[in-house]
Amino acid sequence: MNSRDRFLAACACQPLDRPPVWIMRQAGRYLPEYRELKAKHGFLKMVRTPELAAEASMQPIRRFAFDAAILFSDILVIPEALGQGYTFREEGGIAMERRLENRSMIEALGPEGAVTERLSYVAEAMALLKRELAGSRALLGFGGSPWTLATYMVEGGSSEDFARVKALYYEDRPTFDLLLGKLTASLIAYFKMQIGAGADAIQIFDTWGGVIAGADYEAASLRWIRAIVAAMPEGFPIIIYGKGTGAHLIDQAFTGARVLSVDGSNDLAGVRRSLPENVAVQGNLDPTILNTTPEIAGRETRRLLESMRGSAGHIMNLGHGILPNAKIGCVEALLDAVTSWK
Ligand code: CP3
Repeated sequence: MNSRDRFLAACACQPLDRPPVWIMRQAGRYLPEYRELKAKHGFLKMVRTPELAAEASMQPIRRFAFDAAILFSDILVIPEALGQGYTFREEGGIAMERRLENRSMIEALGPEGAVTERLSYVAEAMALLKRELAGSRALLGFGGSPWTLATYMVEGGSSEDFARVKALYYEDRPTFDLLLGKLTASLIAYFKMQIGAGADAIQIFDTWGGVIAGADYEAASLRWIRAIVAAMPEGFPIIIYGKGTGAHLIDQAFTGARVLSVDGSNDLAGVRRSLPENVAVQGNLDPTILNTTPEIAGRETRRLLESMRGSAGHIMNLGHGILPNAKIGCVEALLDAVTSWK
Protein backbone atom coordinates (compact mmCIF):
# COMPACT_ATOMS: atom_id res chain seq x y z
CA MET A 1 0.00 0.00 0.00
CA ASN A 2 1.53 3.33 -0.94
CA SER A 3 1.86 6.18 1.53
CA ARG A 4 -0.88 8.33 0.08
CA ASP A 5 -3.41 5.49 0.16
CA ARG A 6 -2.34 4.64 3.70
CA PHE A 7 -2.82 8.24 4.82
CA LEU A 8 -6.25 8.55 3.23
CA ALA A 9 -7.30 5.15 4.63
CA ALA A 10 -6.38 6.33 8.14
CA CYS A 11 -8.40 9.54 7.62
CA ALA A 12 -11.34 7.31 6.68
CA CYS A 13 -10.79 5.14 9.82
CA GLN A 14 -10.09 2.00 7.80
CA PRO A 15 -8.05 -0.70 9.60
CA LEU A 16 -4.32 -0.74 8.74
CA ASP A 17 -1.29 -2.85 9.65
CA ARG A 18 0.45 0.31 10.86
CA PRO A 19 -0.54 3.98 11.05
CA PRO A 20 0.73 6.52 8.51
CA VAL A 21 3.26 8.99 9.94
CA TRP A 22 4.35 12.59 9.45
CA ILE A 23 5.39 15.23 11.95
CA MET A 24 4.38 18.83 12.43
CA ARG A 25 7.13 21.23 11.29
CA GLN A 26 8.90 18.34 9.57
CA ALA A 27 10.45 20.93 7.23
CA GLY A 28 12.40 23.12 9.61
CA ARG A 29 15.42 24.08 11.59
CA TYR A 30 16.38 20.63 12.94
CA LEU A 31 17.44 19.75 9.34
CA PRO A 32 20.91 21.00 8.26
CA GLU A 33 19.74 21.25 4.63
CA TYR A 34 16.85 23.50 5.77
CA ARG A 35 19.23 25.76 7.70
CA GLU A 36 21.41 26.00 4.61
CA LEU A 37 18.49 26.91 2.34
CA LYS A 38 17.29 29.50 4.86
CA ALA A 39 20.78 31.02 5.31
CA LYS A 40 20.91 31.53 1.57
CA HIS A 41 17.42 32.87 0.90
CA GLY A 42 15.68 33.80 4.16
CA PHE A 43 12.37 32.44 5.42
CA LEU A 44 9.99 34.87 3.72
CA LYS A 45 11.62 34.46 0.32
CA MET A 46 11.38 30.68 0.70
CA VAL A 47 7.68 30.96 1.48
CA ARG A 48 7.04 33.25 -1.51
CA THR A 49 9.10 31.38 -4.12
CA PRO A 50 7.27 28.24 -5.30
CA GLU A 51 10.47 26.33 -6.21
CA LEU A 52 12.05 27.06 -2.80
CA ALA A 53 8.89 26.26 -0.87
CA ALA A 54 8.54 22.97 -2.76
CA GLU A 55 12.21 22.21 -2.09
CA ALA A 56 11.79 22.82 1.67
CA SER A 57 8.72 20.54 1.70
CA MET A 58 10.67 17.79 -0.08
CA GLN A 59 13.74 17.87 2.18
CA PRO A 60 12.24 15.74 4.98
CA ILE A 61 10.62 13.43 2.38
CA ARG A 62 13.99 12.61 0.80
CA ARG A 63 15.55 11.88 4.17
CA PHE A 64 12.78 10.00 6.01
CA ALA A 65 9.96 7.57 5.26
CA PHE A 66 7.15 10.05 5.99
CA ASP A 67 3.79 9.15 4.46
CA ALA A 68 2.77 12.78 3.95
CA ALA A 69 4.47 15.94 2.74
CA ILE A 70 3.23 19.29 4.05
CA LEU A 71 3.38 22.47 2.06
CA PHE A 72 6.15 24.75 3.30
CA SER A 73 4.51 28.05 4.18
CA ASP A 74 3.19 29.84 7.26
CA ILE A 75 -0.21 30.54 8.75
CA LEU A 76 0.62 34.28 8.68
CA VAL A 77 0.38 34.55 4.88
CA ILE A 78 -3.35 35.18 5.40
CA PRO A 79 -2.96 38.36 7.51
CA GLU A 80 -0.28 39.41 5.06
CA ALA A 81 -2.64 38.96 2.10
CA LEU A 82 -5.24 41.02 3.99
CA GLY A 83 -2.75 43.86 4.38
CA GLN A 84 -0.93 43.14 7.67
CA GLY A 85 2.55 41.75 7.04
CA TYR A 86 4.80 39.86 9.47
CA THR A 87 8.46 39.59 10.40
CA PHE A 88 10.45 37.77 13.06
CA ARG A 89 11.65 39.30 16.31
CA GLU A 90 15.39 39.18 17.03
CA GLU A 91 14.70 37.39 20.31
CA GLY A 92 12.32 34.88 18.69
CA GLY A 93 8.61 35.06 18.00
CA ILE A 94 6.51 36.95 15.49
CA ALA A 95 6.18 40.70 15.02
CA MET A 96 3.20 41.83 12.94
CA GLU A 97 3.35 45.04 10.97
CA ARG A 98 1.08 47.27 13.10
CA ARG A 99 -1.39 45.99 15.63
CA LEU A 100 -5.12 46.03 14.93
CA GLU A 101 -6.26 48.60 17.47
CA ASN A 102 -9.70 49.71 16.35
CA ARG A 103 -12.62 48.92 14.14
CA SER A 104 -11.48 51.06 11.23
CA MET A 105 -8.21 49.13 10.99
CA ILE A 106 -10.22 45.90 10.80
CA GLU A 107 -12.59 47.42 8.24
CA ALA A 108 -9.56 48.37 6.13
CA LEU A 109 -8.31 44.75 5.89
CA GLY A 110 -8.86 42.95 2.63
CA PRO A 111 -10.57 42.62 0.31
CA GLU A 112 -11.05 38.92 1.06
CA GLY A 113 -11.63 38.36 -2.64
CA ALA A 114 -8.01 39.32 -3.38
CA VAL A 115 -6.49 36.73 -1.03
CA THR A 116 -6.18 33.85 -3.49
CA GLU A 117 -4.66 36.10 -6.13
CA ARG A 118 -2.13 37.48 -3.63
CA LEU A 119 -1.32 33.96 -2.50
CA SER A 120 -1.14 32.42 -5.98
CA TYR A 121 2.47 31.44 -5.18
CA VAL A 122 1.05 28.94 -2.68
CA ALA A 123 -1.01 27.26 -5.40
CA GLU A 124 2.09 27.16 -7.61
CA ALA A 125 4.20 25.57 -4.84
CA MET A 126 1.42 23.06 -4.22
CA ALA A 127 1.22 22.15 -7.92
CA LEU A 128 5.00 21.67 -8.10
CA LEU A 129 4.86 19.39 -5.07
CA LYS A 130 1.93 17.45 -6.47
CA ARG A 131 3.90 16.76 -9.63
CA GLU A 132 7.08 15.82 -7.80
CA LEU A 133 5.29 13.46 -5.40
CA ALA A 134 3.29 11.91 -8.23
CA GLY A 135 0.81 10.36 -5.82
CA SER A 136 3.51 8.55 -3.80
CA ARG A 137 2.77 10.51 -0.59
CA ALA A 138 -0.20 12.43 0.67
CA LEU A 139 0.11 16.18 0.17
CA LEU A 140 -1.11 18.33 3.03
CA GLY A 141 -2.20 21.93 2.89
CA PHE A 142 -2.81 23.99 5.99
CA GLY A 143 -3.78 27.30 7.51
CA GLY A 144 -4.36 28.86 10.91
CA SER A 145 -7.76 28.91 12.57
CA PRO A 146 -9.48 32.32 12.45
CA TRP A 147 -9.02 32.69 16.24
CA THR A 148 -5.32 31.77 16.17
CA LEU A 149 -4.69 34.24 13.33
CA ALA A 150 -6.67 36.93 15.17
CA THR A 151 -4.41 36.54 18.22
CA TYR A 152 -1.35 37.52 16.16
CA MET A 153 -3.20 40.33 14.39
CA VAL A 154 -4.70 41.97 17.47
CA GLU A 155 -1.75 41.35 19.80
CA GLY A 156 0.67 42.62 17.13
CA GLY A 157 2.67 39.38 17.24
CA SER A 158 3.43 36.54 19.62
CA SER A 159 1.80 37.13 22.98
CA GLU A 160 2.17 36.05 26.58
CA ASP A 161 -1.28 36.83 27.96
CA PHE A 162 -3.54 37.38 24.90
CA ALA A 163 -5.12 40.26 26.83
CA ARG A 164 -5.77 42.49 23.80
CA VAL A 165 -7.53 39.92 21.65
CA LYS A 166 -9.57 38.74 24.64
CA ALA A 167 -10.48 42.35 25.44
CA LEU A 168 -11.74 42.78 21.88
CA TYR A 169 -13.80 39.60 22.25
CA TYR A 170 -15.35 40.67 25.57
CA GLU A 171 -15.70 44.43 24.94
CA ASP A 172 -16.72 44.72 21.29
CA ARG A 173 -18.16 41.50 19.92
CA PRO A 174 -19.41 43.01 16.63
CA THR A 175 -15.88 44.14 15.75
CA PHE A 176 -14.40 40.82 16.87
CA ASP A 177 -16.96 39.05 14.66
CA LEU A 178 -16.13 41.35 11.74
CA LEU A 179 -12.45 40.33 11.96
CA LEU A 180 -13.18 36.63 12.42
CA GLY A 181 -15.69 36.72 9.56
CA LYS A 182 -13.09 38.24 7.23
CA LEU A 183 -10.57 35.59 8.24
CA THR A 184 -13.12 32.81 7.79
CA ALA A 185 -14.06 33.99 4.28
CA SER A 186 -10.35 34.32 3.36
CA LEU A 187 -9.53 30.85 4.67
CA ILE A 188 -12.43 29.25 2.79
CA ALA A 189 -11.16 30.72 -0.48
CA TYR A 190 -7.56 29.86 0.42
CA PHE A 191 -8.33 26.23 1.27
CA LYS A 192 -10.41 25.80 -1.89
CA MET A 193 -7.40 27.08 -3.82
CA GLN A 194 -5.13 24.56 -2.07
CA ILE A 195 -7.57 21.75 -2.83
CA GLY A 196 -7.73 22.84 -6.45
CA ALA A 197 -3.92 22.73 -6.58
CA GLY A 198 -3.83 19.14 -5.32
CA ALA A 199 -4.01 19.04 -1.51
CA ASP A 200 -5.15 15.61 -0.27
CA ALA A 201 -6.03 16.92 3.20
CA ILE A 202 -5.90 20.23 5.05
CA GLN A 203 -4.87 20.85 8.63
CA ILE A 204 -6.32 23.83 10.50
CA PHE A 205 -3.95 24.95 13.27
CA ASP A 206 -5.89 26.20 16.29
CA THR A 207 -2.64 26.60 18.19
CA TRP A 208 -4.07 29.18 20.61
CA GLY A 209 -7.52 27.64 20.99
CA GLY A 210 -6.62 26.67 24.55
CA VAL A 211 -6.07 30.21 25.80
CA ILE A 212 -9.68 31.40 25.57
CA ALA A 213 -12.00 30.47 28.44
CA GLY A 214 -13.61 27.08 27.89
CA ALA A 215 -17.11 28.56 27.92
CA ASP A 216 -16.04 30.97 25.15
CA TYR A 217 -14.24 28.46 22.91
CA GLU A 218 -17.33 27.98 20.75
CA ALA A 219 -17.95 31.69 20.09
CA ALA A 220 -14.29 32.71 19.83
CA SER A 221 -12.93 29.83 17.79
CA LEU A 222 -14.94 26.70 17.03
CA ARG A 223 -17.92 28.28 15.26
CA TRP A 224 -15.55 29.81 12.69
CA ILE A 225 -13.74 26.51 12.16
CA ARG A 226 -17.12 24.79 11.73
CA ALA A 227 -18.07 27.32 9.05
CA ILE A 228 -14.84 26.55 7.20
CA VAL A 229 -15.34 22.78 7.39
CA ALA A 230 -18.93 23.19 6.16
CA ALA A 231 -17.71 25.10 3.10
CA MET A 232 -15.26 22.39 2.01
CA PRO A 233 -16.15 19.69 -0.53
CA GLU A 234 -18.25 16.90 1.01
CA GLY A 235 -16.03 14.27 2.64
CA PHE A 236 -12.74 16.10 2.02
CA PRO A 237 -10.37 15.33 4.92
CA ILE A 238 -9.96 18.28 7.25
CA ILE A 239 -7.69 17.87 10.28
CA ILE A 240 -8.26 20.14 13.28
CA TYR A 241 -5.22 20.65 15.48
CA GLY A 242 -5.92 22.27 18.83
CA LYS A 243 -3.41 22.94 21.58
CA GLY A 244 -4.93 22.93 25.05
CA THR A 245 -8.37 22.16 23.63
CA GLY A 246 -8.69 18.64 25.05
CA ALA A 247 -11.92 19.60 26.80
CA HIS A 248 -13.50 20.41 23.42
CA LEU A 249 -12.59 17.28 21.45
CA ILE A 250 -16.18 16.04 21.24
CA ASP A 251 -17.36 19.41 19.95
CA GLN A 252 -14.48 19.47 17.45
CA ALA A 253 -15.49 15.97 16.33
CA PHE A 254 -18.98 17.21 15.45
CA THR A 255 -17.74 19.99 13.14
CA GLY A 256 -17.54 17.48 10.30
CA ALA A 257 -13.72 17.36 10.43
CA ARG A 258 -12.48 13.84 9.64
CA VAL A 259 -9.38 13.96 11.88
CA LEU A 260 -8.56 15.55 15.23
CA SER A 261 -4.88 16.24 15.91
CA VAL A 262 -4.41 15.91 19.64
CA ASP A 263 -1.79 17.62 21.80
CA GLY A 264 0.51 15.75 24.17
CA SER A 265 -1.50 16.49 27.31
CA ASN A 266 -4.20 14.00 26.27
CA ASP A 267 -4.04 10.20 26.54
CA LEU A 268 -4.51 9.33 22.88
CA ALA A 269 -6.01 5.87 23.44
CA GLY A 270 -8.55 7.39 25.82
CA VAL A 271 -9.37 10.07 23.27
CA ARG A 272 -9.78 7.39 20.58
CA ARG A 273 -12.29 5.52 22.77
CA SER A 274 -14.24 8.69 23.58
CA LEU A 275 -14.75 9.89 20.00
CA PRO A 276 -17.18 8.71 17.32
CA GLU A 277 -15.67 5.79 15.37
CA ASN A 278 -15.73 7.67 12.08
CA VAL A 279 -13.44 10.45 13.35
CA ALA A 280 -9.69 9.69 13.19
CA VAL A 281 -7.09 10.92 15.67
CA GLN A 282 -3.59 12.21 14.99
CA GLY A 283 -0.68 12.49 17.42
CA ASN A 284 0.60 12.76 19.97
CA LEU A 285 4.18 12.11 21.15
CA ASP A 286 5.78 14.87 23.17
CA PRO A 287 8.16 16.70 20.78
CA THR A 288 10.92 16.78 23.41
CA ILE A 289 11.21 12.98 23.02
CA LEU A 290 13.03 13.75 19.76
CA ASN A 291 15.67 15.68 21.72
CA THR A 292 16.62 12.65 23.85
CA THR A 293 18.20 9.50 22.38
CA PRO A 294 17.18 7.19 19.52
CA GLU A 295 16.58 4.40 22.08
CA ILE A 296 14.12 6.54 24.04
CA ALA A 297 12.46 7.91 20.89
CA GLY A 298 11.95 4.34 19.59
CA ARG A 299 10.72 3.08 22.95
CA GLU A 300 8.21 5.91 23.43
CA THR A 301 6.95 5.56 19.86
CA ARG A 302 6.34 1.83 20.36
CA ARG A 303 4.64 2.54 23.68
CA LEU A 304 2.20 4.91 21.96
CA LEU A 305 1.62 2.44 19.10
CA GLU A 306 0.98 -0.36 21.61
CA SER A 307 -1.60 1.79 23.40
CA MET A 308 -3.37 2.26 20.06
CA ARG A 309 -3.20 -1.40 18.98
CA GLY A 310 -6.43 -2.49 17.36
CA SER A 311 -7.76 1.06 17.00
CA ALA A 312 -8.53 2.12 13.44
CA GLY A 313 -8.15 5.77 12.51
CA HIS A 314 -4.75 6.79 13.88
CA ILE A 315 -2.18 9.01 12.15
CA MET A 316 1.14 9.00 13.98
CA ASN A 317 2.50 12.47 14.75
CA LEU A 318 3.76 14.65 17.58
CA GLY A 319 1.55 16.61 19.97
CA HIS A 320 3.08 19.85 18.63
CA GLY A 321 5.83 20.90 16.20
CA ILE A 322 9.28 19.33 16.29
CA LEU A 323 11.80 21.52 18.13
CA PRO A 324 14.77 23.14 16.35
CA ASN A 325 17.25 21.16 18.49
CA ALA A 326 15.63 17.77 17.79
CA LYS A 327 18.07 15.03 16.76
CA ILE A 328 17.99 13.44 13.32
CA GLY A 329 18.74 10.05 14.91
CA CYS A 330 15.62 10.36 17.06
CA VAL A 331 13.44 11.16 14.04
CA GLU A 332 14.91 8.08 12.31
CA ALA A 333 14.16 5.97 15.38
CA LEU A 334 10.55 7.20 15.41
CA LEU A 335 10.13 6.31 11.74
CA ASP A 336 11.82 2.91 12.17
CA ALA A 337 9.50 2.12 15.05
CA VAL A 338 6.40 3.03 13.02
CA THR A 339 7.38 1.42 9.71
CA SER A 340 8.50 -1.85 11.36
CA TRP A 341 5.42 -2.00 13.63
CA LYS A 342 3.61 -5.35 13.70
O1 CP3 B 1 5.06 21.67 9.33
C1 CP3 B 1 5.73 22.03 8.36
O2 CP3 B 1 6.80 21.47 8.05
C2 CP3 B 1 5.17 23.11 7.45
C3 CP3 B 1 5.56 24.42 7.74
C4 CP3 B 1 4.93 25.30 8.81
C5 CP3 B 1 5.57 26.48 9.23
N1 CP3 B 1 4.72 27.18 10.04
C6 CP3 B 1 6.91 26.91 8.80
C7 CP3 B 1 7.66 27.72 9.76
C8 CP3 B 1 3.69 25.25 9.45
C9 CP3 B 1 2.63 24.18 9.41
C10 CP3 B 1 3.58 26.46 10.22
C11 CP3 B 1 2.38 26.82 11.00
C12 CP3 B 1 2.46 27.88 12.01
N2 CP3 B 1 3.12 29.08 11.91
C13 CP3 B 1 1.77 27.87 13.23
C14 CP3 B 1 0.84 26.79 13.69
C15 CP3 B 1 1.61 25.57 14.04
C16 CP3 B 1 2.13 25.51 15.42
O3 CP3 B 1 3.33 25.29 15.57
O4 CP3 B 1 1.33 25.63 16.35
C17 CP3 B 1 2.06 29.06 13.90
C18 CP3 B 1 1.56 29.46 15.27
C19 CP3 B 1 2.90 29.82 13.06
C20 CP3 B 1 3.44 31.17 13.30
C21 CP3 B 1 4.89 31.06 13.39
N3 CP3 B 1 5.74 30.95 12.30
C22 CP3 B 1 5.69 30.97 14.57
C23 CP3 B 1 5.17 31.05 15.99
C24 CP3 B 1 7.02 30.83 14.16
C25 CP3 B 1 8.24 30.69 15.02
C26 CP3 B 1 8.89 32.04 15.24
C27 CP3 B 1 10.22 31.86 15.90
O5 CP3 B 1 10.39 32.36 17.01
O6 CP3 B 1 11.10 31.23 15.31
C28 CP3 B 1 7.01 30.80 12.74
C29 CP3 B 1 8.16 30.63 11.88
C30 CP3 B 1 8.24 29.37 11.11
N4 CP3 B 1 7.23 28.86 10.37
C31 CP3 B 1 9.37 28.53 11.01
C32 CP3 B 1 9.02 27.49 10.15
C33 CP3 B 1 9.88 26.36 9.65
C34 CP3 B 1 10.71 28.78 11.67
C35 CP3 B 1 11.39 29.87 10.89
C36 CP3 B 1 12.88 29.69 10.91
O7 CP3 B 1 13.36 28.87 10.12
O8 CP3 B 1 13.52 30.37 11.70
